[in-house]
Amino acid sequence: MYKNGTFHIENISAKTIVNSTGTPVFVYSKAVLYKHLNAYLNALRNHPCYCTDYTSHLLCYAVKANSNLSILKYIASQGAGFDIVSAGELERVLIAGGSPDKIVFSGVGKNYDELKKALDAGVYCFNVESEAELFILQAIAKQVNKIAPVSLRINPDVDANTHAYISTGLKENKFGIDINQAEALYHQATQCSHLSVKGIDCHIGSQITQLQPFVDAADKILNLADRLMSAGIHLTHINMGGGLGVNYADEQVPSITDYVNALCNRTGKRKLRLLLEPGRSVIAEAGVLISRVILTKNNGYKHFAIIDAGMNDLIRPALYGAKHRIVPLLDEGRDTANHYDIVGPVCETADCFAKQLHIDLNKDDYLVILNAGAYSMSMASNYNSRPRATEVMVDADQWKIIRRQETTEDMLRTETPYISGE
Ligand code: LLP
Repeated sequence: MYKNGTFHIENISAKTIVNSTGTPVFVYSKAVLYKHLNAYLNALRNHPCYCTDYTSHLLCYAVKANSNLSILKYIASQGAGFDIVSAGELERVLIAGGSPDKIVFSGVGKNYDELKKALDAGVYCFNVESEAELFILQAIAKQVNKIAPVSLRINPDVDANTHAYISTGLKENKFGIDINQAEALYHQATQCSHLSVKGIDCHIGSQITQLQPFVDAADKILNLADRLMSAGIHLTHINMGGGLGVNYADEQVPSITDYVNALCNRTGKRKLRLLLEPGRSVIAEAGVLISRVILTKNNGYKHFAIIDAGMNDLIRPALYGAKHRIVPLLDEGRDTANHYDIVGPVCETADCFAKQLHIDLNKDDYLVILNAGAYSMSMASNYNSRPRATEVMVDADQWKIIRRQETTEDMLRTETPYISGE
């Protein structure tokens, strides 16, 4: 949003932030985070929960989308739960004040220590993805004399119509338990002394921009849930996994309310609590990545603007061919005949944020890469030994650094220079 020709995050000028923090810097808007998170929470509140064990549905924010402690703390303060996939994420959620009885633990390869830590913490449910995991969990629970609450993640074989790398609900994908094997495994789970069957779940993929795949998956899962319940297996929840995609470039995406309504309507008056694990749609639009043009370059064939953010800061364009809109920090209406490829400094041709952007650019101009709140900083790396960027949170007319930029010292801390014989 521009005010007086300068990009603002809420009431704060982006110029004020970069003058103080330098670049690259991720800036998040608390108001936008509030808006999307509460769109989910309110839509869920509007549907009665007919489950006999719980009085309300549950939102579990997918921590992997953005795991900054301040963001998690804010999400916890709004009453949401969390979907975690590692002991690291568990630790983050607990530090941020998340309540264990609102944590679901997903992931296709949870290891012994992770399962044990989550059992010790008393998480709400383990989303189990294989027969092997079910029996490992039973063994650990028996060892520590605890009952592990479980849901089986079902692979419904539904095409999410999304990028192949983030499509997870097809037979050929590594995720979940084949829908045809699930019933037998549920019966085995009920026989396990230290497991308590709680629910059923699925997650068919991410950046899904239509409701139909979600509805198709819900129908398959609900059909299975009905069969299980009539066979005497007591399920308390259905977890439909991640949320909607977002509009990065020109995608048409249904509203969060329509998405929640569609799933609640499908669930109907069944005695089930609905769980959702959205990540991207909660935080993507709340974040921008601001970067400075280090230099421009004309190779006689093309113009390039080389910026100080790289694929190590935001890997989505390089990895998925994602297109994030890019706008100038100062909207001065400068005209240009030139088109620029916006590229980072990393030594890979894939380190490219946009091709042939029609924008006037000079050295030291700033660019704002939009919708960079999700799967951006959480996927950042130190590739090329580049320190990870600063993160800032804006709240109305206040702003604060919520993660300082890494230093070279931070990056080297865990290494020991060694050659054999020394
Ligand atoms: N639940 C499970 C079990 C998941 O695996 C995921 C995402 C989510 C929930 C959250 O889904 P969402 O609401 O964010 O769509 N790095 C990729 C996205 C990977 C998604 C992985 N799983 C990207 O940048 O597009």
